[in-house]
Amino acid sequence: MSISIPEIKLNDGLTLPVIGLGTYKLNGNEGANSISGAIDTGYRLIDTAYIYENEGTVGKAVQRASVPREELRITSKLPGRYHSYDKAVTTIQESLYRANLDYYDLYLIHWPNPKQDIYVEAWQALIDAKKWGLIRSIGVCNFLPEHMERLEKETGIKPSINQIELHPFFNQEEQRIWHHENNIKTESWSPLARASEVLQNETIRSIAVNHDKTISQVILRWHYQLGAISIPKSSSPERQLENISIFDFSLSDKEMGRIAELTRPDGRINDQDPAIYEEF
Ligand SMILES: NC(=O)c1ccc[n+]([C@@H]2O[C@H](COP(=O)([O-])OP(=O)(O)OC[C@H]3O[C@@H](n4cnc5c(N)ncnc54)[C@H](OP(=O)(O)O)[C@@H]3O)[C@@H](O)[C@H]2O)c1
Repeated sequence: MSISIPEIKLNDGLTLPVIGLGTYKLNGNEGANSISGAIDTGYRLIDTAYIYENEGTVGKAVQRASVPREELRITSKLPGRYHSYDKAVTTIQESLYRANLDYYDLYLIHWPNPKQDIYVEAWQALIDAKKWGLIRSIGVCNFLPEHMERLEKETGIKPSINQIELHPFFNQEEQRIWHHENNIKTESWSPLARASEVLQNETIRSIAVNHDKTISQVILRWHYQLGAISIPKSSSPERQLENISIFDFSLSDKEMGRIAELTRPDGRINDQDPAIYEEF
C-alpha cells in the first residue's frame, strides 16, 4: 500500500511533501533497504546530512527505489567545518559524489555556528551551487531570525526553509510565527522528540484514544496542522507506515491548544541552543 502525502510550495517554487523520512542512524545496506522500503510506502522526501555519513546509503536507496528520481526530494546539509566559501563548494560536490546524484533538491547549512561567524560565506556557496544546477532549493537549519536577516541583507536571498528542533515539549511558537511572516517554511527535526517520554504523555494519549490513533500519529498530525514539514525517522516498515497515516483525521482547536500547553522553556532534547551551540 502506498500513501499519497500532501505537498506544500516553498518561496522559490519547489514543492515538498509535508512529511519526509529522517535518516540519522540509517546506514549501510540495512539503511538503504529501510529507505527504499519507505519510498515504496509513499515517502518522497528523504533527509540526510554530510555528517550522518549516510549520503551513500541514501543514494543507494534512490537507485533501488520504485519511483523515478524526479519524484523524489533529497535533502543534505553542509557541516560547520566547511563554511568557508571554497570548502563549501567542494563539500557540496563531495555530497553529490557520495550519493551518486547529479543534484540535491534541497541543501541546508546544518548549524549557523555564530562564534565561527562565516555562515554568510557558506550561504554564498549554496547560492552559486543553485545557479550551477547542483541544488534546486537552498535553506538552513537551526538559524535564528537574526542569522536569516543577515543572509538576506548581505546576499539578497533568503532561505526557502529553516529546519529546527520542534516537538510538543519545545514548540518554537515565536520562531514559527517569524518564519510565517517572512515566507520561510518550518521543518521539524526530532518531531517525535526521539521517541522519549513524549510518547508516554497522558494528554496526548487521551487525544489519541479519542481518534483511535497512536500517540505518534497525533504528534505528526499536530506538526501538519501547525504548517510544519516533519521528518520522523524510523527503521521499521510498520512505524514508517504509521507515521504517514495521518491524513484521515484532524485535531480540534481545543486539542491543538492542549498540546501547545506541553511546551517548556527547557524542552530541548540536548540543550542545543543555536545562539551558542556549535557543531562541526
Ligand atoms: N538539522 C538538524 O540539526 C537535525 C538534528 C537532529 C535530527 N535531524 C533530522 O531529523 C530526523 C528526525 O529526528 P530524530 O531521528 O532525531 O528523531 P525522531 O524522528 O523524533 O525519533 C526517531 C525515534 O523514534 C522512533 N520512532 C519512529 N516512529 C515511531 C513510532 N511511530 N512509534 C514509536 N517510535 C517511533 C524511532 O525508532 P525506530 O527507528 O526503531 O522506529 C527512533 O528511535 C533525523 O533522522 C534527521 O534526519 C536534523
